[in-house]
Amino acid sequence: MVITIDGAAGVGKTSTAKELAKRLGYQYFDTGAMYRAVTFFFINQNVDLTSVSEVNNSLKSIKLHIDFSSESNMRIFLDEDDISLKIRSQEVTSKVSAVSAIKEVREMMVQIQRSFTKKGNFVVEGRDIGTVVFPDAKYKFYLQADYDIRAKRRLADFEKINEAKNINEIKEDLETRDKYDSTRKLSPLKKPVDAIIIDTTLCSFQEQVNQILKHIEK
Ligand code: DC
Repeated sequence: MVITIDGAAGVGKTSTAKELAKRLGYQYFDTGAMYRAVTFFFINQNVDLTSVSEVNNSLKSIKLHIDFSSESNMRIFLDEDDISLKIRSQEVTSKVSAVSAIKEVREMMVQIQRSFTKKGNFVVEGRDIGTVVFPDAKYKFYLQADYDIRAKRRLADFEKINEAKNINEIKEDLETRDKYDSTRKLSPLKKPVDAIIIDTTLCSFQEQVNQILKHIEK
């Protein structure tokens, strides 16, 4: 069984999806980490994103591995290297929207996402999870929040990896990414028609998790 959590950056998807997975005894699956891992790989390989043949050739050699074994967390590896933290860098963040708009990248990621979740129960977070990857999921949630609160949450994320950031810079980055992610041709970020909206602007963390759990228990 799959529970989908979609929404823009900084709306609280990750913390909510992790806690939900923990409370339900499900696996947590962060699909954004996959797009970030591909971006990290392309940067290291110097791939020209405008060249379809370069992108395709490079994708053929990518060896992504995901470890779901730790409770309500996931780790992502490129070959043997655990890149779970490295993919959070500013360089990856600034290029990931462009990489995730590439058709060949999306096709490969969606195929992997569907095959990984064939067995077991998952809380899957992303942008197109309820619309494209699992349109038949029974429980779909769409998280949203004001820009200010989203920027503050992103600032806290950067502090965790010791990257100094300015709140205005973060706001600009969020606006650019929102625009890019929601206006791209392929699988743009949008609310699945049958998803329940959870606005996390004024909610405490526990409140937002409890709201979702109530819907599932119904
Ligand atoms: O959730 P995140 O910020 O780590 O996601 C990074 C980028 O990946 C985001 O800007 C859009 C893209 N993404 C996507 O296109 N589809 C998904 N299912 C998840 C993320």
